[in-house]
Amino acid sequence: METFGVSGAAGFIGSNFTHFAIGKGHKVIAIDSLSYPGFLFNLEPWILKSRILGLKNGKDFSRVNFSIEKRHDRIYKKVFSNKVLCQIPDNKLKGYNITLFENKEDFTREIESFIESNEKLLFIIASITDEELINIILPHVNCFFNFAAETHVDRSILSQEEFIFTDILGTYNILKVLIKYKNVKKFIQISTDEVYGSSIEGSFNESSILNPSSPYAATKASADLLCLAFYKTFNAPAILIRPSNNYGPRQYPEKLIPLSIIKILKGEKVPIYGSGKQKREWIYVDDCVKGIYQVFLRGTAGEIYNIGSGFEIENLEVVQKIGNILGKNEDIYEFVKDRPSHDTRYFLNSSKIKSLGWEPETDFEEGLKLTVDWYIENKDLYIKIMESADFSSFYKLWYQKR
Ligand code: DAU
Repeated sequence: METFGVSGAAGFIGSNFTHFAIGKGHKVIAIDSLSYPGFLFNLEPWILKSRILGLKNGKDFSRVNFSIEKRHDRIYKKVFSNKVLCQIPDNKLKGYNITLFENKEDFTREIESFIESNEKLLFIIASITDEELINIILPHVNCFFNFAAETHVDRSILSQEEFIFTDILGTYNILKVLIKYKNVKKFIQISTDEVYGSSIEGSFNESSILNPSSPYAATKASADLLCLAFYKTFNAPAILIRPSNNYGPRQYPEKLIPLSIIKILKGEKVPIYGSGKQKREWIYVDDCVKGIYQVFLRGTAGEIYNIGSGFEIENLEVVQKIGNILGKNEDIYEFVKDRPSHDTRYFLNSSKIKSLGWEPETDFEEGLKLTVDWYIENKDLYIKIMESADFSSFYKLWYQKR
């Protein structure tokens, strides 16, 4: 059974994929910088009996010293020039047993000991921009899945630096290290349908032109091109996956579906951009994860695979459906200022991945009900996230001050 490297493993699709991969019997070395949407609890119960490691002094891509220091319960992290892009707050680490290493040798021995053990999950607090760490980790995995990315379109309109750093430079950093090692058979880069831009009708296939609208989509398109160039030039075993809008458990509540669920549960109104008539093709995260796994099994290096459900719906209707499930039909939304360069519609042609033997299994009504139930069960946790400093300051900047 292969050992997987999974970056962005504490985030939404990455954590769902990690659960699936462990269920399939793989060992996973999970990597995550624990920036704002990454949570160790997304990997429970596995994480509770796993080693959680960090290297105290690494070198990040920009060659600026990178430090993780444990003071009291807090781990601070500096990743880009002199700017602190990520500071892990206390409450994210409470209850977990984290070991930080002074030197590379001890750290590497710990990874080797994990590989020899019966343990399923090893978690490393690291950014994909940390070249030294990626160098240490990659020789121990047979396949690497990069889910790590800044992903929220609205945040990319407010500030672009983090997107350029993680999405472009982080991917480049993995590619650069990857071509040194022959043990990694597949590098699977999780991209997005947003690289194609918007289309009022028809669908995008894998050869459609790249026409990104937001800074986020532009950074993902840049990373895609780097992967393809590294495949052509250096034979890097890179495969691109472009999923449509995912929804399901463990999604950070800045995205439309979890935001709507928690807002309605709190008795607050869901903010709808513009007319609410924009369309998205929603895929349940379990289906997407199975598609990614199918690409691991049967996909070819240098190729691109779209993953969409074939089901599209207007935003306003999505919110109304959530209201129906929660038994609330009135006063659940309000129209707010539109997102600049708001894409009207995405829709994918997914016949290529279907030819590998994959089909979506969950219809939207069923997936939405499962998702709403999951957020009801975890309501307190998500209300806390929404009340956190990160979420509140973003919310104020984006929804109130704009
Ligand atoms: O298509 C794949 C992409 O889907 C991923 O690559 C992105 O990482 C992910 O964020 C998502 O992008 P969207 O912009 O489509 O997702 P979001 O949930 O932010 O918005 C979905 C739609 O709902 C979009 O038309 C904007 C609208 N919306 C969103 C929010 C957060 C609102 O009307 N109000 C809101 O408050």
